[in-house]
Amino acid sequence: MKRNDFPKNFLWGTATAAYQIEGADLEDGKGPSIWTHFCTKDGAIRTGEDGSVGCDHYHQWDEDLELMKALGVNAYRFSISWPRVIPDGKGKPNSKGLDFYNRLVDGILDRGIEPMITLYHWDLPQVLQEQHQGWESRDTIDYFGVYAQQMFSTLGDRVSNWITLNEPFCSSHTSYFMGEHAPGVCDAKRSFQVAHHLLLAHGKAVQAFRSEVPGGNIGLTNVTSCIEAASSSEEDKRAAFLGNQFVNDWFYATPIYGSYPSELSETLKPLGLYPEVKNGDFEIIREPIDFWGVNYYTRQLVKADPGGMMGIAHDKPRLPTTDMGWEIYPQGLTQCLKQVSEYGSLPLYVTENGCAEKDMVFRDKVHDEKRVKYIREHIKAVQNAINQGIIVKGYFLWSFLDNFEWAYGFSKRFGLVYVDFKDQERKRTPKDSYLDYQQFLTQTDS
Ligand code: GCO
Repeated sequence: MKRNDFPKNFLWGTATAAYQIEGADLEDGKGPSIWTHFCTKDGAIRTGEDGSVGCDHYHQWDEDLELMKALGVNAYRFSISWPRVIPDGKGKPNSKGLDFYNRLVDGILDRGIEPMITLYHWDLPQVLQEQHQGWESRDTIDYFGVYAQQMFSTLGDRVSNWITLNEPFCSSHTSYFMGEHAPGVCDAKRSFQVAHHLLLAHGKAVQAFRSEVPGGNIGLTNVTSCIEAASSSEEDKRAAFLGNQFVNDWFYATPIYGSYPSELSETLKPLGLYPEVKNGDFEIIREPIDFWGVNYYTRQLVKADPGGMMGIAHDKPRLPTTDMGWEIYPQGLTQCLKQVSEYGSLPLYVTENGCAEKDMVFRDKVHDEKRVKYIREHIKAVQNAINQGIIVKGYFLWSFLDNFEWAYGFSKRFGLVYVDFKDQERKRTPKDSYLDYQQFLTQTDS
C-alpha cells in the first residue's frame, strides 16, 4: 500500500483538540470552559488530572509544527477554544487568543500544510453554562453563531476547510445522559434537548459561513459506530436498528432529511424524551453542507434490554481490543464510510481514527507495534472504501500527541508522539507509529 495509490489531492493529516493539548488554560485572558470546571469536581476525572497544562502546546506550537512537517502530512485538523477567543462566550473577543490562532494558522501554512478547523470540540465557555444553562438554552445557539461568524471573518481568508461541531453525540449524550463528560448530567430528556440545540447551532454556523468564506467547505463531524446485533434474534436485530438510529442516523440523517429518525422518535415520544422542536428548526438544521467528517474507532455490539429505557444495551467485546477496551475492527471503517456516503452523497473525510495503547519509552524509543498495525489496517480499510467508489478525500489520524483523554485524564495514550506528562517541559518522543506513518507519507515510487 502506497500513498500514491490514493487520489492525488487526498489530505493526509493528524487531528487534535484544543482542551486536550493546549494547556495555558487561564492564560493570556482565556476564560474557563465547562471542562475547566468539570475537572475540579470530585471523581469526574478518574485520575484526578486536568488540562490546565496539557501538552503545553500553547507555548510549544512552533516545535510541534516542525515535528508535524517532518512527519510528511499535508493537512492538520485542530480545534479553536471558544473561551480563548471569546472568554465569556459572548461579547468582547480576546485579542491575545485571536493572535494565538493567527500565528498557528500562519505556521501551518508556512509549512505547506492545509489547516482544517473544528469550531467546537466540547469546551463551552463556563460563563454560558452558568448564566445561560449552556446548551440547554437557545441563547447558546445564537452565541455560537456569532462566535462562528467571527472566526470565519478572522481566519477564513487563509482557512477554507471548517467543521462546525465535533461529535454532537458526545457533547449531548456522553455529557448529559451518561454524565461522563462536562457538565456531568444524567438526564435523558435534557440530553435530547441539548442534541437538538447542538444541531441548530451547527446549522446557524453553516448559514453564517457562505458569505464569509466564499468557496470554502464546511461540514459536521460525527462519532460513527458500526452497530451490529449481538445475535441473530429478532429482538437483538431490532435493538441494533434502534441503536444505529440513536448513534448514527440522529446526527447524519437529520441534517439531510430535516426530521428525526422515525422509529427512535416513536420510542422516545411516549417516554417524554423527544425534544421540543420549534417551527423552522429543521430548516436551519438542514442547511446544506459540503462534507461529512467521520470519526471511527470501533464497532459496537448491541442487544435487546427489555428493562432499559430505550430497550437497547451494549454487549461485551468479542474481538481483541485497544487500551480503551474498544474492539479492533478495521472492516467496520469501510462499512461506516459506505453507510455515511448514503446520507446525502457528500464527500467524506475520516476526521479521526486511532488507537490507545500502554506505551513506554525505552532508550528514547517507543515500540508501539499494535498501533502501527492498527493504523495500517485502517488506512487499508479506507482504500477498500475508495475502491468501492466511495468519495473519501482525507484521513486524519487521532492523534498527533498523547493528550488529555477527557474523563480518563492522561492515562490513555493515542499519540504518534509520546508526551512525558511528568516532565515540566512535556518532552516529546516520536513513537514507532510516527516513523511508520512518516515512511508511508514520504516514500516515493522510484
Ligand atoms: C472523541 C474525540 C476525541 C477523543 C478520541 C479518543 O472522539 O471522543 O473527538 O477528543 O480523544 O476520540 O477517545
